Amino acid sequence: MARQAQDDGIGEICATPHIRHDHDVRIPELPGRVAALAAAVREAGCAARILPGAEVAATALDGLDDDELAAVSLGGSRRWVLLEPAPGPLDDRFETAVDRLGERGFRALVAHPERHLAPDLTGRLRRLVTKGALVQATAAFLSDETVRPGMLVLARAGVVHVLGSDAHSSRGGRPVALAGALEVLGTIEPTASHLDWVAREAPQAIVRGEELTPPF
Ligand SMILES: [Fe+2]
Repeated sequence: MARQAQDDGIGEICATPHIRHDHDVRIPELPGRVAALAAAVREAGCAARILPGAEVAATALDGLDDDELAAVSLGGSRRWVLLEPAPGPLDDRFETAVDRLGERGFRALVAHPERHLAPDLTGRLRRLVTKGALVQATAAFLSDETVRPGMLVLARAGVVHVLGSDAHSSRGGRPVALAGALEVLGTIEPTASHLDWVAREAPQAIVRGEELTPPF
C-alpha cells in the first residue's frame, strides 16, 4: 500500500484504524505499531511516510479522555481528529459531537460525507464548517464516473476540503490513490482555483496541528 501511495505521488499517509465499539484497537499500542510500520516501509525503500492517526467514531468520543484523543489525532497533531459519523444522515447528535470536540480544543475532519446522503447534507456540512470542521471526501468516488455527479455537487458547494483514499488493502477495494480524484477537482470550481491547498496545504496543516481556514 505504501508503494502504491508513492506511485501516486502521496508523500505522507495517516494510518487510520477505527476507534469504534466493534473494533478492538488499543490506543496505547498505536505509537509502537505506527513506528514499526513506518520503519518497515522505510526499510523497504519506500519514500511514503507513515503518520499516526485514527478514524474516531463520533459515538466513541465521550469514552476517550483528552490524552487518548490526542493520541488518535491525525499526524499526532493533538488538534485534528478524523471524525466518523454514525451510519445514516448527519444529525444533531453529530453536530453536538463536533461542538464537544471543539470545546476540548480539537477540530473535526468529517469522514466520508458521501456515505451520509440526505437532502440536507450540504446544509449540514456547511454548518459544521462554520463550527470549525473540515470535510474529507473519499477519492475513489470522484474517480468513479457513476457516482461522480453526486460528489461534484458537494465539491461545487465548497464542502470538499481534502481527500482520503479510505483504502483497506493493496489488492482490492478502494485504491491507495488520490491523483485521479484531484484531477477531477481540478476541472470544477471552487476547487480548481485552490487545488494545491486541497492536495498539499490543507493536509500538511492538519497533520502539523495548525489552524486552517478554507479559502472557499
Ligand atoms: Fe469510516
